[in-house]
Amino acid sequence: MSKIKLPVTRYYGSKRKLVERIWNEIENLGLEFNSVLDVFGGTAIFSYYSKVKGKTVIYNDIFTFNTLIGRKLIEHTSNELTYDHAVDLLQPVADRIYLNTIQENFEGIYFTNEENAQIDIFIQNANALENENQRLSAYYLLFQSCIIKRPYNLFHRNNLSMRLNYSGGNFGNKKTWERPFEELFSRFIKELDEFTFENGQPNRAVNSSALNCNEIADLIYIDPPYFNSKGHHTTYHSKYHFLEGLANYGEIANHINPDKNNREIVINKSEEFERPARFLQELEQLILNHVNSIIVISYRNNGVPSIQEISDLLIVCKPGCQIHTIDLGMYGYALNKTNKLNNEFLIIGTNDPLVA
Ligand SMILES: C[S@@+](CC[C@H](N)C(=O)[O-])C[C@H]1O[C@@H](n2cnc3c(N)ncnc32)[C@H](O)[C@@H]1O
Repeated sequence: MSKIKLPVTRYYGSKRKLVERIWNEIENLGLEFNSVLDVFGGTAIFSYYSKVKGKTVIYNDIFTFNTLIGRKLIEHTSNELTYDHAVDLLQPVADRIYLNTIQENFEGIYFTNEENAQIDIFIQNANALENENQRLSAYYLLFQSCIIKRPYNLFHRNNLSMRLNYSGGNFGNKKTWERPFEELFSRFIKELDEFTFENGQPNRAVNSSALNCNEIADLIYIDPPYFNSKGHHTTYHSKYHFLEGLANYGEIANHINPDKNNREIVINKSEEFERPARFLQELEQLILNHVNSIIVISYRNNGVPSIQEISDLLIVCKPGCQIHTIDLGMYGYALNKTNKLNNEFLIIGTNDPLVA
């Protein structure tokens, strides 16, 4: 576990538990860099760590909800939203006219009726906040609380009944799911107070697809979606579409897929880096877009493509430079079906020429 204290994340593929080791490996290579582009930013953990280390950080993610979290943690240097103010945002403001989009379209799907009503009110009150610092804090609170209240912390299934009918056993955290927003806000306000700080650099969070991201930095960290070799893949859009809907609240009603039981909200859905057959080609394009930067790629073995294929690609894209393939060890404690260890790897292409 990292000695630098980190925000708690319950996000699929978060590098929270690994970021210190990733950073140590980069440091051990003696690489020199002042700026970092975290192009598949997710929870912003790598960006946050880089910010603590004094780098100029550019966070990117394809989803708006993630970028709002990134803006709060990476761009902002303080939290101006108090706990009392956050709780007030759960109440309707007199004379303000509210939509009931979540109540009307998601009954029985992800949250209880009471929670749906609170989400409708809160997000519209948050959108109306003129103070950007407070507004981004409010989004942070809502997105983190919604994640923590979901079984598996995901939105790919309409399994509210599983949460409500859960009666013990090995799985789940019923107590956390049932905590009211008011209680969860207290935890996340404390996080924001603790984790928003100034590092003296012009840090930014942007929102584009990796291949359309035209930001440049000395080092680019590439932590893309992972495909296991079993062939079944749930996209990040499928996992988190509901939060992307909340980040685009006014557009939800016109973007619900009625054919899906979980009423998927089709906003910012993209296949880029989400299809195994095109992954290597897209990765090649991404590397070539940043070929003058130090390239750091996170991936797991037992997946598609293999670590060897990614490493070979990097050698072709950065001819004459040093390539390091580093085994970070076990990912969780799971063995796959063939009893091979699932290990996490770093594949690093430096800008230093190979010494003959
Ligand atoms: C493995 S996760 C990254 C996790 C992150 N390093 C962390 O520690 O939280 C991959 C991220 O890529 C984002 N993503 C998926 N496709 C993308 C694309 N084409 N361009 C940019 N981001 C994308 C997802 O939203 C997700 O947050």
